[in-house]
Amino acid sequence: MFTSSAAVTDGTKAIRGGIPVCFPQFSDLGPCAASHGFARTSTWDVTSTTSTTATFTLRSGGDRDARDEAFPHAHVVEYVVCVDGETLTTTMRVTNEDVDAFEFTTALHTYFRVGDCERARVEGLKSTSYLDSLDGRREKTDDADAVEFHEEVDRIYLDTPAVLKIRDASMPESGYGGTFTIEKSATLTDAVVWNPWVEKSKKMGDFRDDEYREMVCVEVAGTRKMSLAPGATWEGSQTISFAV
Ligand code: BG6
Repeated sequence: MFTSSAAVTDGTKAIRGGIPVCFPQFSDLGPCAASHGFARTSTWDVTSTTSTTATFTLRSGGDRDARDEAFPHAHVVEYVVCVDGETLTTTMRVTNEDVDAFEFTTALHTYFRVGDCERARVEGLKSTSYLDSLDGRREKTDDADAVEFHEEVDRIYLDTPAVLKIRDASMPESGYGGTFTIEKSATLTDAVVWNPWVEKSKKMGDFRDDEYREMVCVEVAGTRKMSLAPGATWEGSQTISFAV
């Protein structure tokens, strides 16, 4: 995992690294003014732990502040983090506790640590359609064998396969390198691939100018509105493993 050395951790903004939980929306694809919604800047309760898991809960109502006024639906989000041997599984459950259905979009916005993004590639997306967020979200397809990072990349891939890999060939020079395998549940239909590259990095106050070289984001996501009936629970998960 990557976390910026300039990340802000006092709760005033989302931590630039790890796995921000985007809810009730990914990016601007929902009712909230804040990009990626309020979950990533909220304080969650730790509601249970075992030797391998921790469960965090975020409930509407109570002393929640005004950030979720744009999403006035009674709900509870549970996030289970499981570190089990060589794998990390993160599972998100959203329950509608309201009397009406509501819609949401979501992403688990994982920042992966690589030695040099120009030597890393994302495999598994060949011929998959994507919305190019750098070109008005125009729908495109590319036939390259892998997504590479030699410029800014910001793409929403639609209906992606269950398994994606990030291969980082920067060993041994960087001390990093290897292959991440990311497996997602079918309920997370999409995957976002992002690297801010030079200019955007300079504009981010919580990210060093040259840190774009050390990370790539592959975010399992549901970017098209999902409707949840009263009383229903939606679950989405990813399992990440790493091999040198
Ligand atoms: C990605 C988006 O998911 O998150 C990008 O596709 C965005 O457009 C990036 O820049 C980071 O967002 P934020 O709000 O954490 O700066």
